[in-house]
Amino acid sequence: MEFTVTDQTTLSFASPSAAAADGVAVVFAEDGPKFTSAAQDLDKKTKGMLSEAARISAFKGKKGSSVDVLAPRGVKFARIVLVGLGKPADYANDAWLNLGGAVRGKLSGREGGAAHVYLEKAKGELSAEDAASFALGAQLRNYKFDKYKSKNSETEKNATPLKKLVVHCADPGAARRAFAPERAIVDGVNLARDLVNEPANVLTPAAFAARAKALAKAGVQVTILSEAQMKRLGMGALLAVGQGSENTSHVAVMQWKGAGVRGGDPIAIVGKGVTFDTGGISLKPAAGMEDMKGDMAGAACVAGLMLALAERKAKVNAVGIIGLVENMPSGTAQRPGDVVEAMSGTTIEVLNTDAEGRMVLADCLWYAQEKFKPVAVINLATLTGAIMVALGKEHAGLFSNDDELSARLTAAGLETGEKLWRLPLGPKYDKLIDSKVADIKNTGGRWGGSISAAQFLQRFIKPGTPWAHLDIAGTGMASGDTDINRSWGSGFGVRLLDRLIRDHYER
Ligand code: BES
Ligand code: MN
Ligand code: ZN
Repeated sequence: MEFTVTDQTTLSFASPSAAAADGVAVVFAEDGPKFTSAAQDLDKKTKGMLSEAARISAFKGKKGSSVDVLAPRGVKFARIVLVGLGKPADYANDAWLNLGGAVRGKLSGREGGAAHVYLEKAKGELSAEDAASFALGAQLRNYKFDKYKSKNSETEKNATPLKKLVVHCADPGAARRAFAPERAIVDGVNLARDLVNEPANVLTPAAFAARAKALAKAGVQVTILSEAQMKRLGMGALLAVGQGSENTSHVAVMQWKGAGVRGGDPIAIVGKGVTFDTGGISLKPAAGMEDMKGDMAGAACVAGLMLALAERKAKVNAVGIIGLVENMPSGTAQRPGDVVEAMSGTTIEVLNTDAEGRMVLADCLWYAQEKFKPVAVINLATLTGAIMVALGKEHAGLFSNDDELSARLTAAGLETGEKLWRLPLGPKYDKLIDSKVADIKNTGGRWGGSISAAQFLQRFIKPGTPWAHLDIAGTGMASGDTDINRSWGSGFGVRLLDRLIRDHYER
């Protein structure tokens, strides 16, 4: 099955004066309202319709507010949308990205299929990077997961896709160049979203592995480990999680060698890919269990990131490793109390079969370090419900043994709007997972549940390897509607890690 961006809109950049006389025009006003020059121009041409509409609807230019003028006189546009920019002080970080998403959300193809956005501030010039961010936000909002809606459904009948989005800005050439790598980001984020949104009867571990394999088309080298190979490697923790399922387990290893041999050892990104988490014999309650089709959001992010890096030809060596398993209860499932041996030789007492993500990651993390001697390891996982109790859906949890890596990730989070909040690790928390019968146990009790989960992962990190764990249970799926996403899967982490790599790991 193919990627599903049904509402395909072609995006282009043009100068402010480029001819445009159909569809929708979008112009802006800052807090006040202070009209931008394009807004003033359209106001003049319509004999004051814009300022009159603003007055009637008490539009002040507040961020996110807007006024619609339908069938304006004196111009050929079918509709003019006046959008508030807020205050110049708000124009930091992901502001232009979100504005692009919000504007895209106000557009449809009903007025003729084209939209012309006159992107500018009331005072001072907009940078090419900001224009590219705006375009990225618009393209990210331009995503729907509707492949399972039959052709005659209501939404399909009423669909009038926007065909053309033209961003008019001061330096369209520079904006076009700044946007070039962002096309890859759109593809990467949408791949991650597609994978998260896909139901678990379709996206089995083998099906996910096949989608990973397809990244070869983009220049990623992909190998898939079979259960037999994993058994030989000693991946007893990962295999124990998958042993209750009819669907075989897989590990996908995706290498992008954009910096060549001279680029040295890679950065490793590891993802939890539990394609469905029933809890196993420690079965989850029925209510909301359907959400556990998204328990592979970490792995989806890794796949999306690898696609983005390859498509934009990032000058970095990176390896993505994802553990793909299904956690099912059955006669062959692991039991509470079982003891298994991980690839590292560490023995694990399985107190709760629902604490499966950490077992999958344990072997993937060890394999990553043994095989690739990475300069840093970052893992992403929908690991604990407790992270949502702590942080809600605004921040993902960040755990790290390295202050510099942690600071870099936090900064990348603020830049992209994929925000992280660091939580502590330490010897007292580590003690929580000591076991009476094995080296460690797979749960550390109710208090600080996200932290003891992170401590478990750290038991599989070699001293001296900079490592960070991102708990994305609250942000990877069902994270709520935003300006740039209305689908269930968010694609969280792709932009964050791409930004981290751009800022610190590219040659
Ligand atoms: N996949 C879940 C965590 C999760 C819960 C993600 C809700 C997204 C939404 C994970 O495998 C899990 O079940 N964790 C347990 C750990 C516990 C048994 C120690 C949890 O959070 O309750
Ligand atoms: Mn679980
Ligand atoms: Zn899980």
